[in-house]
Amino acid sequence: MTQDAITEIKQAILSGDSAAVGSLPVPESYRGVTVRADEVDMFAGLASRDKDPRKSLHLDEVPTPELGPGEALIAVMASAINYNNVWTSIEPIPTFKFLQRYGKLSPLTKRHDLPYHVVGSDLSGVVLRTGPGVHKWKPGQEVVAHCLNVELEGPDGHNDTMLDTEQRIWGFETNFGGLADIALVKANQLMPKPAHLTWEEAAAPGLVNSTAYRQLVSRNGADMKQGDVVLIWGASGGLGSYATQYALNGGAIPVCVVSSPEKAAICRKLGADLVIDRSAEGYRFWKDENTQDPKEWQRLGAKIRELTGGEDPDIVFEHPGRETFGASVYAARKGGTIVTCASTSGYMHEFDNRYLWMNLKRIIGSHFANYRESWEANRLIAKGLIHPTLSKTYSLEETGQAALDVHRNSHQGKVGVLVLAPEEGLGVRDAELRAKHVDAINAFRGA
Ligand SMILES: NC(=O)c1ccc[n+]([C@@H]2O[C@H](COP(=O)([O-])OP(=O)(O)OC[C@H]3O[C@@H](n4cnc5c(N)ncnc54)[C@H](OP(=O)(O)O)[C@@H]3O)[C@@H](O)[C@H]2O)c1
Repeated sequence: MTQDAITEIKQAILSGDSAAVGSLPVPESYRGVTVRADEVDMFAGLASRDKDPRKSLHLDEVPTPELGPGEALIAVMASAINYNNVWTSIEPIPTFKFLQRYGKLSPLTKRHDLPYHVVGSDLSGVVLRTGPGVHKWKPGQEVVAHCLNVELEGPDGHNDTMLDTEQRIWGFETNFGGLADIALVKANQLMPKPAHLTWEEAAAPGLVNSTAYRQLVSRNGADMKQGDVVLIWGASGGLGSYATQYALNGGAIPVCVVSSPEKAAICRKLGADLVIDRSAEGYRFWKDENTQDPKEWQRLGAKIRELTGGEDPDIVFEHPGRETFGASVYAARKGGTIVTCASTSGYMHEFDNRYLWMNLKRIIGSHFANYRESWEANRLIAKGLIHPTLSKTYSLEETGQAALDVHRNSHQGKVGVLVLAPEEGLGVRDAELRAKHVDAINAFRGA
């Protein structure tokens, strides 16, 4: 019954009759990419680079969760890999702590506390069912989902939902994520699927696009303005490929840092003229594990000035963390802003505070995006003003390999995952808008 039910849903959507899914039965179980609680020690003692997501991520048949008030079940056509999938797959202990803690809030959240975790923080798909109290969304609507999960029962999040004391990232700190045939979301995560995109293109931007929007554009982040020089680490990666577009789109001047000529070429293709290949330059910001080398910060600063005609960055778009943070604080201009949302290379940052206070610089912490910011970021995609940066797609069975590629930093832009969509290229509803932007949409393809 379960596979038949999934097949029926899939066929209805593929035949262009998404509206029909509301009258089809909801499958009792579905395929989901999981990590398992009884395997959390599988990588004990291994170095991070030796932890292989292909071993810890499984494709399991799991029961469909009961639908609660304010929620929606989504038939997932496509999803995407995010770095949080890498974190969950190589460090599975915290994930079950997240689920246990969430499970303590209410009988509804208790559903999330399971011995397996279905991961995934992006999706495009079709609303299958909505729970009590959901009026804005109806079965059959084609949607994408942002990954902000909030309760909003206290006062803290009512100016900025990211400040809710019970703020979580769906599919990372909650269960029933998007790397699965069916996902459970709060209905206030839903946004219209951009009509000119395929399922896999529509699923790709979500998490990183919203994050880059808040971090760079929003008043809650760096509040970028025209003419700002923006130093962007990892400029062709998940976050960076959107940050680069936001800088160009908003009249700023991106200085893109990447680690290979291929990645530099992608940034130039996006329209960025100022590119630094950090591998070719051979920066060594740390002499050894505990000692930074300010001469190397200066070398980076000099390179930036060489490219900009003597200007320092108004904004540094940070996420590599420990390895680059000292250099980022040094390189920002007087009065400039270092805006950070992550610490890929280590979260114990070290920087010379004299450069910060004497030069009146600011460090801003940024994390995902509120509903409004996510909506704005998705709206820009839907209007063809910002484009997906999908380079490659994998099948749901190959999710472990896809996560390994991101873990090894061998990818470009975003890596997609086909779920119920049997092949790439399906789901376009506005061919005219697509035709206008097709080159930009495909910019990362085959990179
Ligand atoms: N707080 C949030 O809401 C949020 C949201 C999204 C992502 N994140 C976090 O942000 C980080 C990046 O995510 P992503 O999706 O952009 O990942 P990604 O697709 O792997 O891109 C990151 C890029 O950063 C560069 N990089 C990696 N290590 C570096 C290092 N040691 N020094 C300099 N550059 C380095 C790499 O580019 P080059 O090799 O070309 O330089 C890489 O392509 C992850 O830690 C992720 O968990 C946080």
